[in-house]
Amino acid sequence: MNIQEKEAVRLTQAWIPKKERIGVVAAIVIAVLLIIWELKGLLQLSSETLHSRQFEHTFKDFGSNARIALFFVLAYYALLLIMKQRVWDGLGHVKKGLAGLLRFARRWHTPMAIIAIAFIVLHTIAVFMYGFKFDFNNISGLLALLVLLPVPLSGLLRYRRLDRKWHLRSGLAFAVLFFIHAFL
Ligand code: HEM
Ligand code: HEM
Repeated sequence: MNIQEKEAVRLTQAWIPKKERIGVVAAIVIAVLLIIWELKGLLQLSSETLHSRQFEHTFKDFGSNARIALFFVLAYYALLLIMKQRVWDGLGHVKKGLAGLLRFARRWHTPMAIIAIAFIVLHTIAVFMYGFKFDFNNISGLLALLVLLPVPLSGLLRYRRLDRKWHLRSGLAFAVLFFIHAFL
């Protein structure tokens, strides 16, 4: 195919491939319901509860859940890197197993990212309800959130390979800031 033909194929493609659409739509529905449900609960809390130790657990739990979902999201990249190593060249069965894992991670990449974003939204709202302070945890969290903004947008472009590697770059920059925020 020449460049024009490739471009024509690309323009007729859907944004999200049909195979993946069910997972993505299901994840969006779950994410929206989760946010509405949890927000309803948060809005009913008294100001006393919002500033208590107990509420710290609430916003930390949202963060922890986001962290679990992000492991799935980033597993795709980690597996891509592992797959590329030449060590596996003579080991067909290992490569086959890795390819299976890679397919699994690829399948869940976008739906899990959507769920992670829902938990991040809740985590951020709850932190602000508790009280924003200018300390390492809050600033590193905000920085990670800022770098996260272009990630889903470039992810959408990535389906049509229109992202010019910005999904990879912003995704990895986010991963670094997220690790600093969530593990230090
Ligand atoms: C960008 C996405 C974010 C992710 C994935 C994330 C994730 C996490 C995780 C995993 C924890 C540790 C929870 C635990 O100890 O069990 C945490 C803690 C925390 N996060 Fe975030 N967070 C994000 C954004 C933010 C933002 C925007 C803020 C503030 C505006 C923030 C403020 C905090 C604070 C204050 C803590 C408590 C730290 C402590 O006292 O140990 N985070 N976050
Ligand atoms: C927390 C958010 C996310 C992070 C950290 C992240 C990170 C990454 C990384 C590092 C890659 C591999 C590099 C590459 O091939 O460009 C990738 C691939 C990809 N991501 Fe994401 N991503 C996130 C969310 C999303 C979202 C929301 C979408 C869709 C709207 C998406 C769509 C894709 C696509 C289509 C690929 C290429 C898969 C393939 O090779 O076939 N990502 N992502």
